[in-house]
Order: sequence, then C-alpha cells, then structure tokens
Amino acid sequence: MIIAIDGPAAAGKGTLARRLAAEFNYAYLDTGSLYRAVGLGVLRAGFKADDVAAAVGVSANLDPALLGDPALREERTGDAASKVAAMPGVRANLLKFQRNFSVCPPGGKTGAVLDGRDIGTVVCPDANLKLYVTASADVRARRRFVELKDREPAVTYEQILADVQARDTRDMGRADAPLKPAEDALLLDTTELAIDAVFLRAVDLVKERL
Ligand code: DC
Repeated sequence: MIIAIDGPAAAGKGTLARRLAAEFNYAYLDTGSLYRAVGLGVLRAGFKADDVAAAVGVSANLDPALLGDPALREERTGDAASKVAAMPGVRANLLKFQRNFSVCPPGGKTGAVLDGRDIGTVVCPDANLKLYVTASADVRARRRFVELKDREPAVTYEQILADVQARDTRDMGRADAPLKPAEDALLLDTTELAIDAVFLRAVDLVKERL
C-alpha cells in the first residue's frame, strides 16, 4: 500500500501522514525534510541557498545527521529548501531514495506513507491512494505561526504569511515537478475541517483500498 499526500506548506499533510502511518503500521517519509536537509547543508557550508553547484553537491551525498538537526524546522531552512527544490539536479538526486522507500518500506512494513509536493505526480505515480491536502494561505500561516512562536519569538504572523505565499509561488511555479494535484488525487481542504475529521475521512479511504 502506497499513500501519497501532497499539498502546500502548513496545510496539515505532515500530521495526517504521521497519523495514517501509525494507524496502519506503515512506514512514514516526510520528503520535505530531505529538501530541508539539502537547504541546511548548503547554508552550513557557507553558500547561498540558490547556489546550484553547492546544492547539487550536498544532495548527491546527503549527510544523514542533517535530518536530525533541530535547525531543520526553522523558517529560514524552509525557505532554503524551497529554493534548492527548484533545481532539477537536486530533485534527481533525491528521487531514487524516495522511490525505494515507497516500494521497500523499512522495517518490513506492508505500506508506506509519503508526504511532499510531487509524490502523487512524480515520485509514486502508481500510489494506491493520493490525497491533496490544502487550506487557505491565511489559515496555514496562522497554524505555522502558533507552531513557531515559542521557538522563534522574533517571527511575526505577517512574515510567516509572506513566506507561505512566496513558497507557494515558488513550489507551484517551478518547471520541474511543480506542486499540483495529481489527476487522480482526492482533494481535502482543511481550511474549515478539523484535522480529526480529515484523518477519519482518510482512514475510510485507505480501508476502501485494502
Ligand atoms: O513540507 P516542507 O515545508 O518541509 O517542504 C520544504 C520545501 O521542500 C518546500 O517548500 C518544497 C520542497 N519539497 C518539494 O519540492 N518536494 C517534495 N516532495 C517535498 C518538499
């Protein structure tokens, strides 16, 4: 069973994916963390996030320690991730790992849940279930602000909203694997739907496919 969950930043796809994986005992891969790790690696090495040669180099030999780094979730890392994610060389380097994970989930699990931007369209076009989780930019920025305000007290709601909108534009506008719903994806709008309701709907959809 391969479940593909795509959608824009802070739409709730990570929470949904994690809960689905726990419910069915499937492996979970947050593919955004791979792009974040590349972005962080580039910044740590002293380059700018839009340095193609540096990003392709970091993604070719991704240091697993970066995936556990607390700075991975910072706003500036998300911004760098969105920039390196527009580079075809970086996407190509990360593709094989993601595909392997989906077809051979670690720990002998019988299924995998992957969330990201291009899972249903590029990484797992044959996924058994494809969900596209979205919400208004305002609601997403508010959620991210609540999540970040204790860890990054200097960050304002206005900054987060501007950042969410800039990332949407970049993620949807890039030429290689842009963010968009797969033709056979089911749309879940979480603007006014609580995460519990979204989760229950998704559980039903998985059970239908089992
Ligand atoms: O989901 P996230 O905020 O952790 O993702 C960080 C960035 O990584 C996002 O702006 C776009 C990129 N990304 C991508 O291009 N493809 C994916 N499958 C996952 C993330």
